[in-house]
Amino acid sequence: QQDGRLKGKRVMISAGGTVEEIDPVRYISNRSSGKMGYAFAQAAAEAGAQVTLITTSLRSVPAGVNVIQVASAREMQTALTERFEVTDIVVMAAAVSDYRLAEPASQKMKKQPNQEHLVLDLVENPDILADLGAQKTHQYLIGFAAETEDLIEHAHEKLIKKNVDLLLANDVSKPNVGFGHDTNQVTVLSPNAEPIVLPLQDKLALAREILNQVADQIAEEDK
Ligand code: PMT
Repeated sequence: QQDGRLKGKRVMISAGGTVEEIDPVRYISNRSSGKMGYAFAQAAAEAGAQVTLITTSLRSVPAGVNVIQVASAREMQTALTERFEVTDIVVMAAAVSDYRLAEPASQKMKKQPNQEHLVLDLVENPDILADLGAQKTHQYLIGFAAETEDLIEHAHEKLIKKNVDLLLANDVSKPNVGFGHDTNQVTVLSPNAEPIVLPLQDKLALAREILNQVADQIAEEDK
């Protein structure tokens, strides 16, 4: 039972794939639907938390959730960073583009005669989660790792490098796992415990299970 377990806690959740402009009509993005982040927002609201959802995708908003719409990784970072100090729990479910255009074109790019190749100049985006991990004081950070090979090894590197408290590793090459699906399957990594493999389940059930675990841990620390 979730009711009230996160009462008084401020939870910030990111959802969806970031959108990096190429020109006024084109962009770089990815296959994230936002479903995982929205499921966390609903589960956190059910548990009584004060929830802010920072999202690139437009879906129906769970009751009581404060929504902030963003597009690019840098906009997402600004929205998260501004509220970080007063936040207790962050869930970084968004799929953030690691690169953006160095200079998006201000007008629609025209195809040049005989142009067979087009090279786009990309520059690195900030690593939002790693920056929050470096700044955190009391905040509990939950990150994801979306992998297609060597799941645990890559996820473990992210857990350490980004200084998160819980890392949910999903192998998005598996059927019904990750991007776009209503279900997900994660292995839970934390700094001082063995990885825990959770079953394939509905994203909302997964979000409830994880937040329940976090509520247990916070209650333990508050004792
Ligand atoms: O939105 P859905 O369709 O429901 O799909 C859910 C999901 C597959 C998008 C979700 O479960 C998921 O795995 N989200 C993280 C996707 C991702 O960007 O993974 P990553 O391994 O590249 O990044 C690791 C972590 O760092 C993530 O928490 C990510 O949000 C964060 N990150 C990554 C790059 C970056 N520049 N800044 C970040 O904050």
